[in-house]
Amino acid sequence: MCGIIGYIGKSEAAPILLEGLRRLEYRGYDSAGLATLNGGLSIRKCKGRIANLAELIAREPICGSIGISHTRWATHGGVTDENAHPHFDQSGKLVLVHNGVIENYQTLKEALAAEGHQFKSQTDTEVLAHLIGKHYDGIGGGATRKRLVEAVRKALKEVTGTYGIAVMHEDVPGVLVGARRGSPLVLGIGKGENFLASDVSAIVGHTREAVYLRDYDIVSLDGEDFEISTLNGGASGFEISKVELTEDDVSKGSYPHYMLKEIFEQPDSLANALRGRLSLEESTAKLGGLNMTPTELRNIERIVLTGCGTACHAAMAGEYLLESLAHLPTEVEFASEFRYRNMPMNKDTVVFAISQSGETADTLAALRESQRKGHRTLGICNNVASTIARESDGGVYMHAGPEIGVAATKSFTSQVTILTLLGLLLGRIRHLSTSEGIQIMEELQAIPEKVRSILKQSDYIKTIAEKYSYAKAMMFLGRQFNYPVAMEGALKMKEISYLHAEGHPSAELKHGVIALISPEVPSVFIAPDDSVYDKNISNIEEVKARKGPVIAIGTEGDTKLAKVADDVIYIPRCPDYLSPLLTVIPLQLFAYHLAVKLGCDVDKPRNLAKSVTVE
Ligand code: F6R
Repeated sequence: MCGIIGYIGKSEAAPILLEGLRRLEYRGYDSAGLATLNGGLSIRKCKGRIANLAELIAREPICGSIGISHTRWATHGGVTDENAHPHFDQSGKLVLVHNGVIENYQTLKEALAAEGHQFKSQTDTEVLAHLIGKHYDGIGGGATRKRLVEAVRKALKEVTGTYGIAVMHEDVPGVLVGARRGSPLVLGIGKGENFLASDVSAIVGHTREAVYLRDYDIVSLDGEDFEISTLNGGASGFEISKVELTEDDVSKGSYPHYMLKEIFEQPDSLANALRGRLSLEESTAKLGGLNMTPTELRNIERIVLTGCGTACHAAMAGEYLLESLAHLPTEVEFASEFRYRNMPMNKDTVVFAISQSGETADTLAALRESQRKGHRTLGICNNVASTIARESDGGVYMHAGPEIGVAATKSFTSQVTILTLLGLLLGRIRHLSTSEGIQIMEELQAIPEKVRSILKQSDYIKTIAEKYSYAKAMMFLGRQFNYPVAMEGALKMKEISYLHAEGHPSAELKHGVIALISPEVPSVFIAPDDSVYDKNISNIEEVKARKGPVIAIGTEGDTKLAKVADDVIYIPRCPDYLSPLLTVIPLQLFAYHLAVKLGCDVDKPRNLAKSVTVE
């Protein structure tokens, strides 16, 4: 949510910053801006995409080898040129870019206004720029790096809320200052140049070393060196990490969209989620990252799974999986509700925070709330350097590779795979026999190839998507393991095609939803050949009786489904509990092709941003 990149070195900053912003655009894309320092400050900012900013800079060039830039997802203040970052302080000598929310900005703004500060935007960020500027001027003395860091420190001590910031000051020309609390910020270490960025993908072409800053870290950097301290002025225990990501990892390759690339990566991302985690000798899963002994695993009495959006749908699938494979009471709660709900949890409840980015504000808050109550809290994350990965008591990494398309795809299947491994591990400790364990492992190992075979139907799914692109709304219906998939299919459709879509358990139709069925409202039934197959067929008949078109996801070899549904997409046969890993693939492709047909910006849907780091 909002992307920041700063550069200090010997090269021209603007091209490097624009390139970095393009890589960060998935974090927010309603406006963008860039400032450089070259004697004085120059600033360019405007509404719209990075392409608009690049055009503006081409018309009105900007130079200097130090600069900061930002791509915005609006929180406070509408989408206007004035509200785009960077923002100046009162003196006009300091500029700041910010990711996060300053919750007490109104109080601070009133106090500053009473002292004569004048604001040009409606943003909380401008207030922070003024506050830092005020402290800089107040500290007095020569223009030094120390003075700027001190001003940032003083201002941040007055702030409540979240921030990842980059600051530069005309009077301290060889220095950038960054700080974070709640919003990610990475220091990229180059040769004769250094970087600040919200995400390492922005600087991957320039550096192989990075420091993932921690909450309350303040960093000052010049082209050669950097210093990191804490908000209280103490030393920060930072570590330099190797950047494993490559430019190829963060490029679209030959695909027209990241989303399609990521859908097609699933045979590999699923193989990666399984790699090294299946023990033939013990016929169970090995999840060493949980940091739990067999006795501790045995003592778990209840599991709570939490996350947001797609991660929450994966958690719902996990609920069915853990109950059926491990016979463990499992509950799912939206992280945004968990954090404020006072859920009674006995002491042997283990909480899993599920998050692709590992930075989602609500999921992080749920993790902290659970830890505060003394529960073991584990993470299922993709981003290994993320806050959730760092703060959890252990966990399992997805190893799915970067997910850049705003709509989550491969992270969903990786999350469900990991929850299946967890079900296998906990089930084998409890009641599953060796042969049952081996059977689950064999079925799991077959999944990546089965996914590959579904992907071969992409063109066929495209024709179906185009056929139904007239729809005014769509229903997604499934039962048991595939109820969460219905929710996920509807979410994919809504977010990238802007079509009204609803996901429901098939049997809930009769309790109200059926009133929406009409020839303009097609229903997508997830009806593999499982224990609820006949029930789904009856629900399909009910929709057909009301002239609702039906697209069904069924199992290869099923001849009955084609007789009741208008169109059928087949998946290979698999056990009921693994079917979400297969049934979701046609739904991802269906939403993708339909959105492309409608001319939507698939990778950057309106109003959305990847990684929601504000509440
Ligand atoms: C949907 C989507 C979002 C995310 C949600 C959680 O396609 O991308 O619903 O799933 O914002 O994000 P993470 O997993 O990063 O916590």
